[in-house]
Amino acid sequence: MNALEIRNKYLNFFERHGHKIIPSASLIPENDPSVLFNTAGMQPLVPYLLGQKHPEGRRLTDYQKCIRTNDIEEVGDNRHLTFFEMLGNWSLGDYFKKESISMSFEFLTKELEIPVEKLSVTCFGGNETIEKDEETASYWEQAGIPRERIYFLKDNWWIAGETGPCGSDTEIFYDTGKPKCSPECNPDCDCGKYVEIWNNVFMQFYKHEDGSITQLKQKNVDTGLGLERVNMLLQGKETPYDTEIFIPIMKKLEELQKVDSIYSRRVVAEHLRSSMMIIADGGRPSNLDRGYILRRLIRRMIRQMNKLQIDLNELSGLIDLNIDNLKEMYPELVKNRETIKQVILEEKDKFVKTLVHGEKEFQKEMKRHKEQGKEQLEGKEVFKLYDTYGFPPEVTQDLAKENNMTLDMDEFDKLFKKHQEKSRAGSEQKFKGGLASTGEMEVKYHTATHLLNAALKLVIGNDAHQRGSNITSERLRFDFNCDHKLTNEEKQKVEDIINEWIKQDLPVTKQEMTKEEAVKSGAECMFIEKYPDIVTVYTIGDVSKEICGGPHVEHTGVLGHFKIKKEESSSSGVRRIKAILE
Ligand code: ALA
Repeated sequence: MNALEIRNKYLNFFERHGHKIIPSASLIPENDPSVLFNTAGMQPLVPYLLGQKHPEGRRLTDYQKCIRTNDIEEVGDNRHLTFFEMLGNWSLGDYFKKESISMSFEFLTKELEIPVEKLSVTCFGGNETIEKDEETASYWEQAGIPRERIYFLKDNWWIAGETGPCGSDTEIFYDTGKPKCSPECNPDCDCGKYVEIWNNVFMQFYKHEDGSITQLKQKNVDTGLGLERVNMLLQGKETPYDTEIFIPIMKKLEELQKVDSIYSRRVVAEHLRSSMMIIADGGRPSNLDRGYILRRLIRRMIRQMNKLQIDLNELSGLIDLNIDNLKEMYPELVKNRETIKQVILEEKDKFVKTLVHGEKEFQKEMKRHKEQGKEQLEGKEVFKLYDTYGFPPEVTQDLAKENNMTLDMDEFDKLFKKHQEKSRAGSEQKFKGGLASTGEMEVKYHTATHLLNAALKLVIGNDAHQRGSNITSERLRFDFNCDHKLTNEEKQKVEDIINEWIKQDLPVTKQEMTKEEAVKSGAECMFIEKYPDIVTVYTIGDVSKEICGGPHVEHTGVLGHFKIKKEESSSSGVRRIKAILE
């Protein structure tokens, strides 16, 4: 069996059990500025876990592309990946613990033919407010897992981030057959005997900013099965790099390398796949947020290619090889082949310049220090190289070693932390403000987006809820619920209404109020739980009222002429409009 076959088995199995297969959302969240990448299958589904009706019903299944960057420094060991695929099935207020457990058990033992003896599970051990989950344990027992392989753990509780839908979970572990590292060794131990493969979350609570927990409208199930891991285990392999997903690129790197390092080969293979996936979903390198993550991935990859002494001109060929290997799983890679190459190669060129520049600067500093008889480079110098020249501290470390110098990394860490706090404050600001860059055109498009939202409700109906939006200085993009392709008449009507509102030069006003007041006043918002307690409401004449961070124009007359350029499907039940102001 390979990864693609496991994916197909999974989706088909849950489809047979009444689930609708939905497509993977983009790695880049459309509706949620508070996270950089989708990190779990549930993320694009949050509105539905909170009670909104999903157009495909109450049982869903998909594979979701995910990026987790918390452990980026760990990549290169035998298990951490930044990009991975999560297979998931959801009950949106439909089945709960019993059925979820029985389906998971059946899938693992019948479809994947994993012997029951290989499986152990953990259940929520209880805390001051919520009791130990004996119910879940009893369903496992009924399914066929003996008591001695059912463990209760206090931290079997799952939430994405700090606030949001959450609940107790039950985790399923695969026993690799390695000996126990101690008599107490259990699935909680990370010696490598037990590997977690699937997490079933019983999502029935919501955690608020003040830490309080309330019941959700409905009891949901959210599960996530790590595809690369299961694939590796079923093939009896020690690492994901030993499976078909990575074998061709790992082999090629071995052929090309002049210095041998399995660690470096893994980093190159892993970061190349992640970067390609992010770029295919529209990500581009920059110095901010998700763009910076992509930049870091590409730069880390280049550094390791340098360590392997692989000519950087080989990159283009490596990209082709990887696309050809992964094209069945991710056809979007083929579609974006040229863009992927262009973005990665341009970033490579920039980084090579940075390295040359930074190394010169390092040599200067070193000379100065040596002349003064100093053997140690201060943390502030390392930080300056990093902050001003983009020179990675680990490169400085390597160079220092080669030149018999030491570095004050404690001081560097302190400076780096301070810098991180500053940029974090910056990102929070961004979330409040809603827009990353707000030139004059972006501001106009922002207001036009509100008008479009209001006009669509008049033409399509009140169910045409906003599902996402994206603005550049060139155009606006707006996703909304709608079950059909808009007719020419409908598009014309939307344009006419908006151009009429522009002609009327309606005033745009701004007011702060509590979230409750905003909702009561009928203000539109996409995702109420995500907003702070005090919100800003923008009102345009008497045609639109939305919770929004702004900024907006002061009156609609300045917008010019509104024109729809494209209307297309975005995902099932969601349409996308691209429009411009001329
Ligand atoms: N959302 C759960 C997880 O990511 C399934 O583990």
